[in-house]
Amino acid sequence: MDGAMTQQQKGAADAPFYLAQGDECALFQAASDNNLPVLLKGPTGCGKTRFVSHMAAQLGRPLYTVACHDDLSAADLIGRYLLKGGETVWVDGPLTRAVREGAICYLDEVVEARKDVTVVLHPLTDDRRILPIDRTGEELEAAPGFMLVASYNPGYQNILKTLKPSTRQRFVAMEFDFPTPELEIKVVAQESGLSADRVAPLVRLAGKLRGLKGQDLEEGVSTRLIVYAATLIATGMSVDRAIEAAMIEPLTDDADVKRGLLDLVTAVFG
Ligand SMILES: Nc1ncnc2c1ncn2[C@@H]1O[C@H](COP(=O)(O)OP(=O)(O)OP(=O)(O)O)[C@@H](O)[C@H]1O
Ligand SMILES: [Mg+2]
Repeated sequence: MDGAMTQQQKGAADAPFYLAQGDECALFQAASDNNLPVLLKGPTGCGKTRFVSHMAAQLGRPLYTVACHDDLSAADLIGRYLLKGGETVWVDGPLTRAVREGAICYLDEVVEARKDVTVVLHPLTDDRRILPIDRTGEELEAAPGFMLVASYNPGYQNILKTLKPSTRQRFVAMEFDFPTPELEIKVVAQESGLSADRVAPLVRLAGKLRGLKGQDLEEGVSTRLIVYAATLIATGMSVDRAIEAAMIEPLTDDADVKRGLLDLVTAVFG
């Protein structure tokens, strides 16, 4: 094609690799077309963040990502007055920028955010689509294309930290989980450069480790960790050492549990 590619075509052409597990891309696209905010739920390292970067590129939208934590205030999202060269100037936060530009604003680990943050999200996530900025007296109407995406891991957070029904019932929600072994082998091979036949036993091991979730382990091993192990192996590290460093040590500090996990490694790799 000559130089006539649109912004969206360009974005789609170099979108980060994401292998779909089901109809999540179509659902996200439909939510976007209809101005609906999206909530992604799922365990750590299963592809939520990658999915959002992929979809933002596919849709040709800028992406503002905010990692939420318990100190994050509404001002961090909306903006604040700052002193610049003796003058006070208003500086937009990432949410305000996304609202003005019609971008995607992605709030990662949204349950960590303080209560005053969720209050800000309410008028933006119903049909009003407005962002009141108290400090400047502005009331911004979200530009076309603005989309709010939030994610969290329902597993390990304490129960007090779930979202209020009045917040969660403003989102179209999608549940993520680790891919099937077939797909996970493809993902790990693509990400690490290790051949599929060498990735396969790592994925088999991951399946066994995930079986221990809830008994010995808080969380099953993530796709991210399998990618780490495969990457180490692809660059020359021994399989044993790579597995221990990337798929066992990150899971537990308990020596007995670790021994049990290493037994599983022997069972899979002989
Ligand atoms: N379906 C997929 N397609 C492509 N890569 C994937 C997929 N699933 C997982 N990955 C790989 O796993 C890694 C971790 O995924 P990601 O960072 O998106 O996890 P996450 O769900 O956002 O985790 P967390 O909750 O810890 O933020 C990615 O960097 C990518 O290498
Ligand atoms: Mg993430």
